[in-house]
Amino acid sequence: MKPPQTSSAHVLIFPCPAQGHVNSMLNLAQLLALRHLHVTFLNTEHTHNRLTRFADIESLLARYPTLRFKTIPDGLPEEHPRSGERAAEPLLSLKVHGKPLLRDILVKEKVTCLVADGLFAKLANDMAEEVGVATIHFRTIGASCFWTYFWAPYLFQSNELPVTGEEDMDRVITSIPGMENLLRCRDLPSFFRPNRDTGKPHVHFETVVSETQQSLRASAVILNTFDDLEAPALSHIRRHFPTIFTVGPLHQHRESRAPTSITTSNNSMWEEDMSCMEWLDSHPFRSVIYVSFGSLTTMTKESLMEFWYGLVNSKMRFLWVVRSDMITAGEGKDESVPAELVEGTKERGLMVGWVPQVEVLAHKSVGAFMTHCGWNSTIESVVAGVPMVCWPYFADQQVNSRLVSDSWKVGLDMKDVCDRNVVENMVNDVMVNRKEEFLQSAEKLAILARKNVSEGGPSYDNLDRLIEFIELISQ
Ligand code: UDX
Repeated sequence: MKPPQTSSAHVLIFPCPAQGHVNSMLNLAQLLALRHLHVTFLNTEHTHNRLTRFADIESLLARYPTLRFKTIPDGLPEEHPRSGERAAEPLLSLKVHGKPLLRDILVKEKVTCLVADGLFAKLANDMAEEVGVATIHFRTIGASCFWTYFWAPYLFQSNELPVTGEEDMDRVITSIPGMENLLRCRDLPSFFRPNRDTGKPHVHFETVVSETQQSLRASAVILNTFDDLEAPALSHIRRHFPTIFTVGPLHQHRESRAPTSITTSNNSMWEEDMSCMEWLDSHPFRSVIYVSFGSLTTMTKESLMEFWYGLVNSKMRFLWVVRSDMITAGEGKDESVPAELVEGTKERGLMVGWVPQVEVLAHKSVGAFMTHCGWNSTIESVVAGVPMVCWPYFADQQVNSRLVSDSWKVGLDMKDVCDRNVVENMVNDVMVNRKEEFLQSAEKLAILARKNVSEGGPSYDNLDRLIEFIELISQ
């Protein structure tokens, strides 16, 4: 047998320091390393410490000899919450402190290609150009949101932006090419909403729009989506970004590419509570609603209680991820829990701090997913063929939940509402009343997702093309 050929390319992968970004970019890192490319994965110290504590970094390194990690500080104190309203601060801090550190690594490590998170687009472009390294941008959001960010300046020209306030939320946006009449103002990315108190544009609006425009300067763009999922947006994106690689769902590639000994890796920044798998084993087919709002969402105790009552009153079994940092300080945070919730949860529920989500979604007892619609969660649910109830929190999630309910028709969107009766009704609709309708659409989409990453599928081929492209620009 011939020894594996090691590539001369050295790829530096630099994700935004948040679970969703690290997950999908680490999946790409493994796929590149599987093809013997030298890959350095650049984490912030904070992220890496958490991965070292809770993920299986050692076995990852043992499996992929050409993969290694490097770290830089994010410039924030250790006790910073790095979630909820302050979730963007590590990114903002890195944009300032990270410049010389990134430049140094690019030079010292003889990097030939920088795969940077598109949220760092300008920083990556500037540093890579300065030292003469090619840059590829990885966007961890879907194509439809990427396209909406890109199209924002034209929405001003056609007078569809700005959104003027609450009374404007149900106005339909007509002029996003490929997505005409799909989004209402409330379905635009959350950063397109004006600040409630001042009426001024959201603080991150300018940044997300200008960083997206910066991707025009990159050698290529990578999206963790597949052609059949977001064809309308992609056909327009390709006119502006001719070198685009749709390689998703990334977490699903290894099944078709890797030897059987290589299974999915645990990239978690929280400790996974494996007791949930046994709990799921003990329940009937598709009888459990899995509830999780991702890695950054925070909510008040009042909102938590609405979800809790809604779930208990629905009489469905539920598995609910309540992260240790999810509940914001506020009135009633430490109050005791009403007896009917304690009873209902004991009978039919399980609340845990973090789960192996991809495995949970693939479990036969899971019938639906109540989700914040982070892009990873959305695409993981699509692969598993699990219908969704959506409660988007911020950023791209408002767009994703509209795709779920109105484009793909694999679930319901409860955006901007947090009410126990709505929760109860939607859970019952997805689990019982409209179960067959949603399941049929979800199963069709899951088949397409798997086809796309199987040998001969578009995402499978695009990953090969991406690797060839990296080799080419690395010469
Ligand atoms: C946010 C954005 O909304 C997302 O679209 C963006 O691309 C990244 O930042 P986040 O809140 O982290 O994301 O959600 P999501 O993108 O869904 O990522 C969460 C990840 O954590 C998923 O891959 C999910 O499988 C994983 N997870 C979540 C677990 O492994 N266990 C859990 O208990 C909960």
